[in-house]
Amino acid sequence: MEKFILVLLSVLVSCAATQPPNIVFIVADDLGWNDVGFRNPHMKTPNIDKLATEGIIFESAYVQPYCSPSRTAFMSGMFPFKVGMQHKVLSDDQAVCVPLNYTFLPQELKKLGYATHMVGKWHLGFCKWECTPTYRGFDTFFGYYSAMEDYFNHSIGAYLDYRDDKLPAWDYRGEYSAYTFAQKAIDIINQHNVSQPLFMYLPYQNVHAPIEVPEKYYNMYPNVINEGRRTFSGMVSALDEAVGNVTSALKEKGLFENTLILFTADNGGPVEAYASNWPLRGGKHTIWEGGTRGTSFMYGAGLKKTNTTYNGMLHAVDWKPTLVSAAGGSPETSIDGISHWESIRNGDQWSSHRTEFIYNLDDFEPALEGHAAIRVGDYKLILGYPGTPDGWHEPMNKTQDYLFDSFIYFKGDNPARLFNVQSDPTERYDMSSIKPEIVDQLRARIDDYRKQMVPALFPPHDPASNPKKFGNVWSPGWC
Ligand SMILES: *[C@@H]1O[C@H](CO)[C@@H](O)[C@H](O)[C@H]1NC(C)=O
Ligand SMILES: *[C@@H]1O[C@H](CO)[C@@H](O)[C@H](O)[C@H]1NC(C)=O
Ligand SMILES: *[C@@H]1O[C@H](CO)[C@@H](O)[C@H](O)[C@H]1NC(C)=O
Ligand SMILES: *[C@@H]1O[C@H](CO)[C@@H](O)[C@H](O)[C@H]1NC(C)=O
Ligand SMILES: *[C@@H]1O[C@H](CO)[C@@H](O)[C@H](O)[C@H]1NC(C)=O
Ligand SMILES: *[C@@H]1O[C@H](CO)[C@@H](O)[C@H](O)[C@H]1NC(C)=O
Repeated sequence: MEKFILVLLSVLVSCAATQPPNIVFIVADDLGWNDVGFRNPHMKTPNIDKLATEGIIFESAYVQPYCSPSRTAFMSGMFPFKVGMQHKVLSDDQAVCVPLNYTFLPQELKKLGYATHMVGKWHLGFCKWECTPTYRGFDTFFGYYSAMEDYFNHSIGAYLDYRDDKLPAWDYRGEYSAYTFAQKAIDIINQHNVSQPLFMYLPYQNVHAPIEVPEKYYNMYPNVINEGRRTFSGMVSALDEAVGNVTSALKEKGLFENTLILFTADNGGPVEAYASNWPLRGGKHTIWEGGTRGTSFMYGAGLKKTNTTYNGMLHAVDWKPTLVSAAGGSPETSIDGISHWESIRNGDQWSSHRTEFIYNLDDFEPALEGHAAIRVGDYKLILGYPGTPDGWHEPMNKTQDYLFDSFIYFKGDNPARLFNVQSDPTERYDMSSIKPEIVDQLRARIDDYRKQMVPALFPPHDPASNPKKFGNVWSPGWC
């Protein structure tokens, strides 16, 4: 009998070894650079810290300065300015979504035999069913289509935005979304047929505004005297607990050993909504490093060098091909993203293939025409308006909220500012006047990319979206 079990075990083990890794892709909405315990000892995030410090922490993983554009990059592997998603975020009443001719990450993973599930925030358009998660590669979806809803009633104003696959999910009012999302992820894990590899996309609501958290997490931060920052810190800890519960479920199901976890923020933290990107400059909505250098790490299956940091240049567009490679597939060659799987798994940042990227190009508002930013090698050129707020902000810890710089708006492509972000990651020394030849070189690269820009898909508010016509639920069916 014992012998039989041993044989059976070794068969199971060898099956597990040949099966592609399970992939869990966690997105933390609006989490700042300095909002995790592995960077800021005031933050209580033991689960995240353990995965990060025992995995590989990315020091130069870039995202877009806003939500919808980063998620476009995650799902399509395309730079937002090439697909029309470069301007701010989609609102719930705009008749548009990421163009349907782009293949999404779960569609690629399905080709490799994965079961694909999504729990959380979409924000890539929903005006018709074809735009929504279960039509774009996910076997199941639980979550919301848009943004900014209440964490307890799951409504934007008077109207519900919460779905269980295609059906409105009314039964969760009063339950904080981090609990529900963790439980839904656990249910998926428990019901999963282990003969198939699992892909779970878990874009949490935490820690985006509105600033709301159950008291238990608020109470974890008696030393934070600013009420908003205290609540925000609690929201980060609620997220951390959700991450811990999901990893425990993977362990109990026996899936953890063969699971690769990718964790990333979608943009820098909004400092006016209590996040902190200290010591980086600026925050969400800006193309300063504080708005675009995302908190990110990987943990688990396939990584050969762990307990390490990785400073190779990565961009949100690269996660799709990198995960497809990790799954044993061949990434598409027609997308902007490139696979870093071999460099990452070997912890070999010097073999990183990315040498440049566009932070954003967005001419939608005429006054902003010409504003842009690019990274090439160690240098970063910013033309014109970088977004607001500017400056360096430690976590808020005064009774009164801090005041932020008033809105400073530059027209067009002036001034040009140049930084060496390798030696000066906090962007304190503008080198444009001492390195004019580098300014010219980078400006010429921006001009090349500008030729590939497509007009932003940013239609006016459409009354056809009115949820009153759909039983008071934000719903597809009006474009
Ligand atoms: C998708 O469609 C747009 C608009 O027709 C086109 O510009 C773009 O090249 C297409 N992309 C792909 C990947 O088919
Ligand atoms: C949900 O809560 C918000 C407060 O955060 C409130 O403004 C809104 O009216 C509520 N919506 C519903 C449908 O209860
Ligand atoms: C995590 O699991 C514990 C134990 O079941 C539970 O009490 C807690 O509410 C869960 N937290 C989250 C965020 O889901
Ligand atoms: C799991 O999937 C395999 C292959 O499709 C199938 O043979 C098996 O019956 C499934 N197991 C369960 C418990 O559904
Ligand atoms: C916040 O400020 C108070 C009062 O100065 C101090 O006691 C506390 O340690 C600070 N907390 C953090 C998290 O910085
Ligand atoms: C990770 O590395 C640090 C320093 O390099 C070391 O102190 C720590 O013990 C290591 N942790 C693990 C889990 O190997």
